[in-house]
Formats: sequence, structure tokens, C-alpha cells
Amino acid sequence: MSDHISLVHGDITQQEVDVIVNAANNHLHRGGGVDAAIHKAGGPDILEECKAWVRQHGELPTGKVMMSTSGDLPVKKVIHTAGPIWYGGKSGEELLLTNCYVNSLKLAAEQGFTSIAFPSISTGVFGYPKDKAAKAAIAAVTHFLEQDTTIEKVVFVCFDEENYNIYKQLLPL
Ligand code: APR
Repeated sequence: MSDHISLVHGDITQQEVDVIVNAANNHLHRGGGVDAAIHKAGGPDILEECKAWVRQHGELPTGKVMMSTSGDLPVKKVIHTAGPIWYGGKSGEELLLTNCYVNSLKLAAEQGFTSIAFPSISTGVFGYPKDKAAKAAIAAVTHFLEQDTTIEKVVFVCFDEENYNIYKQLLPL
């Protein structure tokens, strides 16, 4: 399994994979953090598609995903997901976070993409404890790869040192 999973300490907008995942929000409004970085590097077409999607479908439920153009990014598409806000761990946060990863992988596989990069969803503004989030993310991806044969490469992209060190401890690479 671990030969399909890799860890990078860096910027997700510079990853050369088929699709990158954005830690967005339910309204698909451009926010801060990785959301801002992706919109800044990808250009205005990404936000235009997000706005059009919300006009047609309404809010993106937490844990669900949608796909947009990648604009000027060096990838084919961007998958946007709304991670859970951390309210202490008794509001279904772990399942919702797991859904972000699994639904992103399912959508990428359905579209025939073979490589995908994730940020540490919900661990910034949304306050999800980094160690708990990393465990849930790795478990979700590992379990998905046990049953799927489309996705060949999953990259965890940790922008901050703390997340990187946590993932490094947890991943048997
Ligand atoms: N590449 C990869 N990861 C990044 C980058 C980047 N360029 N910039 C920030 N990150 C990391 C942060 O270090 C953090 O570990 O992304 C992780 C998620 O943090 P946030 O971007 O704050 O996302 P999240 O906690 O899921 O909160 C989402 O914040 O930006 C708004 O619109 C967004 O409302 C949404 C909320």
C-alpha cells in the first residue's frame, strides 16, 4: 500500500499530479489557507466554475466533493471538498473528514485520473486536531486503495512543519 502513498513537505499548487484537492467551504467562496493558494495560482476561472456550481446545486455539503477546472495550475482538475469544522469530536467530525478523502478518491477514479494530492483538510481554520486528522486521512486512503485499482499515486502535501512531522511518524514509508 505504502508504495502508492507519498508524503511531501511543500505547496499543493506545485504538485504535478492529475488532480489536487482543495480544502474549501460549503459555499465554495474563496477563503484563506490552501483555498486562497489554489485560487491565486489557478486564476479566476476556478472561482467562476465554483460559483456556477453553487448557483445550480446549492451549497456543497460537508464531506462531499465537486470538480472544477484547474485554470493555470499544472494539473488536470481541482476537486473541492468542504471539511468538517472541529467542534470537539462528538459531532461526527471523523466520519465527515473520512468522507472528504473517500469521495475525492472516488471522483478522481471515476474520471479516470490515477494520481491525486491532498492537503491536510480541516487542520487549519477549521481547527481539527492535526494528529487525529492525519490518522483519519491515512486510514481513509489506505482502506480505499485496498479495493481500488485505478488510483496509482496519492500524495499527502503538508505545508506546515507540524503536519509534516505527524504524517512522517504515521506513514510507514
Ligand atoms: N499547500 C498545501 N497545504 C496548504 C497550503 C498550500 N499552499 N496552504 C495552507 N495549507 C495547509 C495548512 O497548513 C493546513 O494544514 O492546508 C491545511 C488546511 O488549512 P486551511 O487551508 O485553513 O483549511 P481548513 O482548515 O480545511 O479550513 C477551510 O478555510 O480557507 C478557508 O475557504 C476555506 O472556509 C474554508 C476553511
